[in-house]
Amino acid sequence: MARVLLLMGGLSREREVSLRSGMAVSSALKELGHVVVELDVREDFLARLLELKGEVDVAFPILHGRGGEDGCLQAVLELAGIPYTGSGVLASALAINKYMSKLVFRAKGIPVADDVVIEKRDIITEGLERMVQGVALDLGFPCIVKPNREGSTVGTSVCRNLDDLSQGLESALDLDDTVIVEEYIEGREMTVGIIGEENLLLPVLEIRASKGIYDYECKYTKGMTEYLVPAPIEPKLSQQLQEMALKAHLSLGCEGVSRVDFMVDGEGEIYCLEINTIPGMTELSLIPKAAAAIGLTFPQVVGKILASARLKAI
Ligand SMILES: Nc1ncnc2c1ncn2[C@@H]1O[C@H](COP(=O)(O)OP(=O)(O)O)[C@@H](O)[C@H]1O
Ligand SMILES: [Mg+2]
Repeated sequence: MARVLLLMGGLSREREVSLRSGMAVSSALKELGHVVVELDVREDFLARLLELKGEVDVAFPILHGRGGEDGCLQAVLELAGIPYTGSGVLASALAINKYMSKLVFRAKGIPVADDVVIEKRDIITEGLERMVQGVALDLGFPCIVKPNREGSTVGTSVCRNLDDLSQGLESALDLDDTVIVEEYIEGREMTVGIIGEENLLLPVLEIRASKGIYDYECKYTKGMTEYLVPAPIEPKLSQQLQEMALKAHLSLGCEGVSRVDFMVDGEGEIYCLEINTIPGMTELSLIPKAAAAIGLTFPQVVGKILASARLKAI
């Protein structure tokens, strides 16, 4: 039996999702016989953490996006000396940053989509129109614009012409000073979960979003997305995706749990999109779904993640 500090909520755009995952994890932990102390990561969080420090054995962060999944919270837990689940400071910071993740992926031979990275200051010096023309020349259409450090497809848009691209860039730049524009990969979307100390690879799950891209609405509205697990693909492709997922997970130094997102094009080429270091954990989320396909219950998944908690070498 452990006394678990469940950290959830927070102030990011993904607060609501975090609260839902948090409630599900809380029930699972109680079912496993642990004592759960729930703490919302809001303004009074640091003071509350210090008060609770002696009363808990381990922290379980279930926060998505900046301020929770990006290494900051992990650094606080390191300094407080509280072992915690999931990735450490550097791995979390790298994974939330799509630009930095892709630098590492490329260096490690993990295939990624071509991209152009745009900084807000470039727009100020060069002008939006020139930047848009440049991106269009480099990547062509369609392309996809993403804020560098958001999750849940917030601020992401598919662009089919110059107008879309300038609008897409403007809205993404409202959310982040760095924006990444990628070639749009026409194909199927797959995700691979990894859990526990032993890096257990879950079966490949195919995401068929009714809107084409797996956006916020498709992610969180029942019935708007079809999930197929195990994905109906050749065993060879499934094995390649799992190998690539593990390679990506290790390349950033991730631990305990992660979910690696991929696109696979018509020729079977794989592109690694990103790693989520604190993936959704409602009972309907993708990791629990994929785990169920190999007979693991939701509390078993939560138990495995909990068992891998530790302080990490940053
Ligand atoms: N290069 C791409 N080509 C086609 N679709 C993409 C591409 N990049 C992202 N997407 C779509 O957008 C969604 C969100 O992108 P992703 O990189 O996973 O960011 P996040 O999930 O952090 O918002 C993906 O799940 C996928 O549906
Ligand atoms: Mg994603």
